Amino acid sequence: MEEASDSKNGFRKALSATNLTTLGIGAIIGAGIFVLTGQAAAQYAGPAIVISFIISGLACAFAGLCYAEFASMIPIAGSAYTYSYATLGEFLAWIIGWDLILEYLFAASTVSVGWSGYMVSFLKDFGIHIPTVLTAATSSILVDVPGEGWRELTKQLIASLSSKGIAADTLPHLTAIINLPAMFIIAAITGLLIIGIKESAGFNNIMVIIKVAIILLFIAVGFAFVQSANWEPFIPKNTGTWGEFGISGILRAAGVIFFAYIGFDAVSTAAQEAKNPQKDMLIGIMGSLGVSTFLYILVAIVLTGIVSYSMLNVSDPVAVGVNAMGDKMFWMRPIVKIAAIAGLSSVILVMLMGQPRIFFTMAKDGLLPPVFAKVHPRYKTPYVSTLMTGSVAIILAGILPISILGELVSIGTLLAFSIVCISIIVLRRTRPDIHRPFRTPWVPVIPILGAVICLAQMLALPLDTWLRLLIWMALGLIIYFTYGIRKSKIRNAG
Ligand code: ALA
Repeated sequence: MEEASDSKNGFRKALSATNLTTLGIGAIIGAGIFVLTGQAAAQYAGPAIVISFIISGLACAFAGLCYAEFASMIPIAGSAYTYSYATLGEFLAWIIGWDLILEYLFAASTVSVGWSGYMVSFLKDFGIHIPTVLTAATSSILVDVPGEGWRELTKQLIASLSSKGIAADTLPHLTAIINLPAMFIIAAITGLLIIGIKESAGFNNIMVIIKVAIILLFIAVGFAFVQSANWEPFIPKNTGTWGEFGISGILRAAGVIFFAYIGFDAVSTAAQEAKNPQKDMLIGIMGSLGVSTFLYILVAIVLTGIVSYSMLNVSDPVAVGVNAMGDKMFWMRPIVKIAAIAGLSSVILVMLMGQPRIFFTMAKDGLLPPVFAKVHPRYKTPYVSTLMTGSVAIILAGILPISILGELVSIGTLLAFSIVCISIIVLRRTRPDIHRPFRTPWVPVIPILGAVICLAQMLALPLDTWLRLLIWMALGLIIYFTYGIRKSKIRNAG
């Protein structure tokens, strides 16, 4: 086996093109496909969710090409932060670095809650019960009645009573204390990430093989159960409200399922651990995006063909698809849960891998305390920033209501993608001389299209999400002006 060499920053250069591609697939395929697809089809697009996947995938492909140019040209762990540092200057770079926390750290916490749901349900199938109050964030009201249908109905009733100011606690319910399984998975993965990049990539490879194999099985078996009547009408008529079916519904669904594509850019955070980043970054980013888009489109076609899209507004749409195949296919139910657990595990892993590496680069530039740039002498990993990221993610996952964070993750990521697209155009003008091992084709058309589609998707997100983004950014500015600007290496060198 080829020995891994160490980079000058102390990281171990251990990742091949295949590893980078599986890291990308690991980060991409997760809650988006296992949770959101069905909800977006049921509420916004119907079977035309397939078109939404193509639109969203195309926007990501444009952004992906821009990422690939930067990642091959500046193979440093900071991803979009580093690219904007090189192009737009320190201040904007800080904004992006701070914004990326939304994408990586918050996404890991959000997805860990999905992981917890699937794990609890999987264990229950084997007679292992985790007390309900230990499986959700503190403020969640859980309804303690048997049967999923009743539970959902009672939950809706409680919510509707509360919104009318009527005391709902007369109904049987519990208030959750903490989401222990979500905390557990983040702690376990943080430990793995500290031990080593090779070990982490190895675990990720196994998870990716499991989830992709099971998704392929679902597609292959599912095709036999498709009833073409379910695809009609392919684009359900708009209800009269923007975003509820029709063309606007397809666009809205594209914005919702954008979450499913988040993660391909995480490949670029491993640039310093890649054996041959100049060539392999492109393969990792575009390869993982291509494979995931292909699988998403097939799953969407099969799922909306097996059951009517109107049945898919649930947290486990793929399981509903399997149920619809009939009793003979009962054996596939636990298998689908395993796929979801594996899929969500790998998303958490790659997100928790990306965040410390961005912190590492920011600390190297002096914008964060030097302790964030410490590399473990034996494991060759940024262990302090990994530990800090993991600790914050554990708290978020365990005690905060996560539902509001999903859209915050999307808006933060869309902002980062837009800036990377714009930066490509800027750097081509300001530094045309730099050697670019990979060049984004058709500049400025592709970057402009990428930025415009991302900005349009941001505009389609609710006002609350924008407000949260602004508050987050304001917090970032306070930190920059009280710490970063004073400690910045570039300023102090000048
Ligand atoms: N794309 C990742 C997921 O769907 C974030 O879980």
